Amino acid sequence: MKKLILSLCFLSILYNVNAVNKTKQWFSRNNFIETGVYYYPEHWKESQWDRDFKLMHDLGFQFTHFAEFAWAQLEPEEGKYDFAWLDRAVALAAKYHLKVIMCTSTATPPVWLSRKYPEILLKDEKGFRLDHGARQQASFSSPLYRKLAYEMIEKLAQHYGNDQRIVGWQLDNEPAVQFDYNDAAQNEFRQFLIDKYHNDIQQLNDAWGTSFWSEVYSSFSQINIPQMSQMFMNHHQILDYHRFAAKETYDFLNNQCLLIKKYANNQWVTSNYIPDYSAGHIGMSKDLDFVTYTRYMVYGENEGIGDRGFRVGDPLRIAYANDFFRPINGTYGVMELQPGQVNWGGINPQPLPGAVRLWLWSVFAGGSDFVCTYRFRQPLYGTEQYHNGIVGTDGVTVLPGGREYEQFMKEVASLTKVAKDKDNVPADYSARRAAILYNPENSWSIDRQKQTRLWDTDRHIRHYYQALKSFGAPVDIINENQDFSKYKIMIVPAYQMADKALIAKWKEYAAHGGNLVITCRTAQKDRYGRLPEIPFGGMLADLTGDKIDFYDHLLDKTSPGKVSFDGNDYNWDTWGEVLTPDGDTKVWAKYDSEFYNGKPAVTYRKIGKGSVIYVGVDTEDGQMEESILTKLYDMLNIPVMNLPYGLTIEYRNGLGIVMNYSDKSYTFKLPDGAKALIGNTEISTAGILVFTCN
Ligand code: GAL
Repeated sequence: MKKLILSLCFLSILYNVNAVNKTKQWFSRNNFIETGVYYYPEHWKESQWDRDFKLMHDLGFQFTHFAEFAWAQLEPEEGKYDFAWLDRAVALAAKYHLKVIMCTSTATPPVWLSRKYPEILLKDEKGFRLDHGARQQASFSSPLYRKLAYEMIEKLAQHYGNDQRIVGWQLDNEPAVQFDYNDAAQNEFRQFLIDKYHNDIQQLNDAWGTSFWSEVYSSFSQINIPQMSQMFMNHHQILDYHRFAAKETYDFLNNQCLLIKKYANNQWVTSNYIPDYSAGHIGMSKDLDFVTYTRYMVYGENEGIGDRGFRVGDPLRIAYANDFFRPINGTYGVMELQPGQVNWGGINPQPLPGAVRLWLWSVFAGGSDFVCTYRFRQPLYGTEQYHNGIVGTDGVTVLPGGREYEQFMKEVASLTKVAKDKDNVPADYSARRAAILYNPENSWSIDRQKQTRLWDTDRHIRHYYQALKSFGAPVDIINENQDFSKYKIMIVPAYQMADKALIAKWKEYAAHGGNLVITCRTAQKDRYGRLPEIPFGGMLADLTGDKIDFYDHLLDKTSPGKVSFDGNDYNWDTWGEVLTPDGDTKVWAKYDSEFYNGKPAVTYRKIGKGSVIYVGVDTEDGQMEESILTKLYDMLNIPVMNLPYGLTIEYRNGLGIVMNYSDKSYTFKLPDGAKALIGNTEISTAGILVFTCN
């Protein structure tokens, strides 16, 4: 039974379990958060810059962000650089105590580059070549593009690397994984395969199973980038192509970073990623100091709660991004957060009054060291004319979202007197901490061979995540190279590809007291995406004590299957494995319909000091998954909260933050001895409460 507990707020300074901190501490531990805003000096009359920076400063912003798309202005002709205008902007920003994030403008090469060297342009699967006039048209695989970009970046780094007014660097803009079919990418892909398979085509043929359908190759030069839209294209090949494509992006960024670091004196380097979790490049550029994300919440889809949910957004969208980005380096920032209406959605409504502030507090709650908004002024021309800024089209009227930023910055400033170390959080909150193990390669593999069109890997993971958040649990999304022993509970959802080493690591984790929740589709394929020649799912048999008799999929919600757990029936239709457990493995849930009625679907086994739960079924609404986790926490004597969907709680710096994304107001019971600092215990829709524990 889930217990609504809000026990005494026992503050304890805990070791930050996530932190894989780089040697340098860029942000002070009792620093709350710094807030900044994008500015494009090249878009505005120079005579207005002073006025704009003054207003930025007066509103409370602490930093600004320059040169993201300014390659054409920085290098107007090949090899001729002009930094004078940017120097003047940096100087004026400094006049108003605004620190600067400098960018490498590799998302927008100037026209001379595309005209003189058209081979640098990206080509899509249909052979369509992108052109100048938009952005992100250049191929990261082009050695020539890289050379020209590195030359520009090196000049910029020489110029600003020793400038104390520049605090850090953003590489590119929202660098994505490109599915690029230009000749350079083709060559690089072949080289990647030659390296991976030690120049032995037979190794590649084995890995890709090319005996099937006469797909066999006799030389690497015969291999092309796979056509993603071609039916039945070899999915082992596609898996390697995903790996290659991710590498092209993270390797390009890492090289940019290393160049900057040659000159940067006390400046950090990061990039601003779209939280596209399955893209595979985030966190892979190892020399970056930390990662940041960009997040837009309201863009014409109702992913929120109730009729007005489209104005507030998905309650867990920022939370999940926080929990994904923070564990990568132990610190993170948010580089773009929506300031108001955007222009790129199918429909672009106004956010609900209060929602912008709610998102800001949601970023804060996750532990971010800074938050920045795109952008200060609403553009008067170009692709994003209808996109709100902090100020509107006249350049001086502060828009409603801008006022919410101002309010947030004032509220944060008012808390500095109670600032404590970032890891100062209540012991009961820390005790609930859980990890979710994630590897984007599993999604790549599953998505090419879903076996049921109803399967959705993200939804499957989300069921567990949402349950943990309703418990008021801090969650870290981690990868398999991280230290599992920091977590009492670790979910391993649909982790399709595994090897002996990983399974041994899971075993050891459980033997030493870890509690695994492994779910269906896990460890069923090897790292090439092949089925091992053992009973289906057999790689896990030693760990779970289960044999998988078979797997089933039902048609859809109209005739769902039933699974019964602790006296309740739950619906499922996507993926169900029928299990036969061995002696010491206990049955937790059984199928309650179909010809395998009564057969086990979920099992539990003690291992050493820990345990393994195997959940062989994916339910429709995640209720059973939540009940399973509730039972596990209960067995481990870890009390949990029972927050309704839409309410989340986090702690940092000795503060509790409660956020309400639901369509109703919520009455929060403060822990004994706690005191509300911002907001009160009656939290309205899009409202927040910040309290201190002593
Ligand atoms: C982001 C992008 C920004 C800007 C913004 C508009 O995805 O990084 O450059 O275009 O969208 O909402």
